Amino acid sequence: MGIGALVLAAGKGSRMHSSRPKVLHEILGEPMLRHVLRAVAQLSDDQLVVLGHCAEKVQSQLLLPDSAVVWQGEQLGTGHAVQCAWPEIQKRSWRLCLVVNGDAPLLEPSVIQALLHEVYSTGAALGFLTLEPEDPSGYGRVIRTPQGGVQAIVEAKDYSALHHGTEAKEVNAGVYALDVNQIGPLLGKLSNSNQQNEYYLTDLVEMAVHSEKQVIALQAGRDTSLLGVNTPQELTACEELLRRRLVHYWQQQGVIIRSAEQVRIGADVEMAPGAEIIGPCSVTGQSSLASQALVSEYCWVHDTQVGPKSIIYPYSHLEQAIIDSECAVGPYARLRRGTHLHPGAKVGNFVETKQAVLGRESKANHLSYLGDCELGEAVNVGAGTITCNYDGHSKHRTVIEDGVFVGSNTALVAPVRIGKDALLGAGSTITRDVPAQTLAVARVRQKHLALKRKVPPHDNG
Ligand code: UD1
Ligand code: CA
Repeated sequence: MGIGALVLAAGKGSRMHSSRPKVLHEILGEPMLRHVLRAVAQLSDDQLVVLGHCAEKVQSQLLLPDSAVVWQGEQLGTGHAVQCAWPEIQKRSWRLCLVVNGDAPLLEPSVIQALLHEVYSTGAALGFLTLEPEDPSGYGRVIRTPQGGVQAIVEAKDYSALHHGTEAKEVNAGVYALDVNQIGPLLGKLSNSNQQNEYYLTDLVEMAVHSEKQVIALQAGRDTSLLGVNTPQELTACEELLRRRLVHYWQQQGVIIRSAEQVRIGADVEMAPGAEIIGPCSVTGQSSLASQALVSEYCWVHDTQVGPKSIIYPYSHLEQAIIDSECAVGPYARLRRGTHLHPGAKVGNFVETKQAVLGRESKANHLSYLGDCELGEAVNVGAGTITCNYDGHSKHRTVIEDGVFVGSNTALVAPVRIGKDALLGAGSTITRDVPAQTLAVARVRQKHLALKRKVPPHDNG
């Protein structure tokens, strides 16, 4: 195998001040580590992730197979993390090992591609990317000779102006390409005699230089795609950069994005040219918008497909739903997992759906709960209709066949089936199946009784 990628994600991330492992902190609705894995998958034939702190939680949340994970029992530093993975890397016969930190969610393939190419074509032992960020404070400093050759990387905590000269602006980005054959013998010699008592991966640079191996430091200048996340402030700053990058990308693809500064689009979202989004709103996860689909202000759309010419009106909340063409949703609708609207279906204000299928042109326009139900075509659901799907122990299904008219304020006590073209009288509590083309009324008949006293006056207090 040629190029393999190793992602270092075992650290605790103490500077986040959070009990959640750093790499699980989210950027645009997804754990930061998933963004890193997406980028390295485009650059390598095989990938391994080093896990340690809360390893099981990280592995299960990212659905990583055992074959993609290496354990670092104690977090003794980035160099130690690579040492832990080395036997597995050798087994897999990688020629080049791309190493990236799991806390760099903005990585973009192009600049890393250039590094891999440089190391591969020159036969260097090691290459890494350098940055000149506005604030270099947390990063390892790159030390060069007066002639410009790389000498070492010195971690911020170990940097002393006395020893290393005036503060360098060039820092280590945390992206390395290692030639497996040349680096193997050096890796075992890393020591932890430094301020943090850690085995630093970055010490490989000085060691390789000393053993007269070729080392490349490729300058990426101000490239924001290499920024790392160590603090909550950096997390939100990186999210904002990625948000802008994705909005700009989709604008270039012909998506209409209004109030773009307040639109959040997840990295896995797919959109067709001519789709439209109005901010502020959020479209994340495995969502997709077809051509002329519209998501309006204040909507939250996650793992949801919106078909051509369908409109999501403001303040709607959609999760794991499929919306076919020319549907209307909201304003103020909540579509939960397993909702499927067939073409032309409508779900209006204050309607909640879950595991609900609405057939073609079916409508639930006002104030309803439709759970665990299947509606045929052209069903009209009156205001206030509730599917009573839960009996305290289990959930049951409601089936409403084509053309049924459900009168307002009807309770359908599941399991129940309403036959084709039946009519349910307003205010009914339906507990038994209703045959096709039948009027079912299940409510107390209205009585008229003579008044014995005058109606009391209105209370104006
Ligand atoms: C590291 C670099 C620094 C560079 C910076 C870029 C070292 C010693 N320093 O510093 O030169 O400028 O990244 O962002 O490498 N990790 C493990 N196991 C460990 C320790 C860390 O897997 O035992 C992982 C962390 O989960 C993290 C990554 O390695 O994803 C980097 O660790 P971190 O502690 O954030 O290193 P920095 O101090 O940022
Ligand atoms: Ca870091």
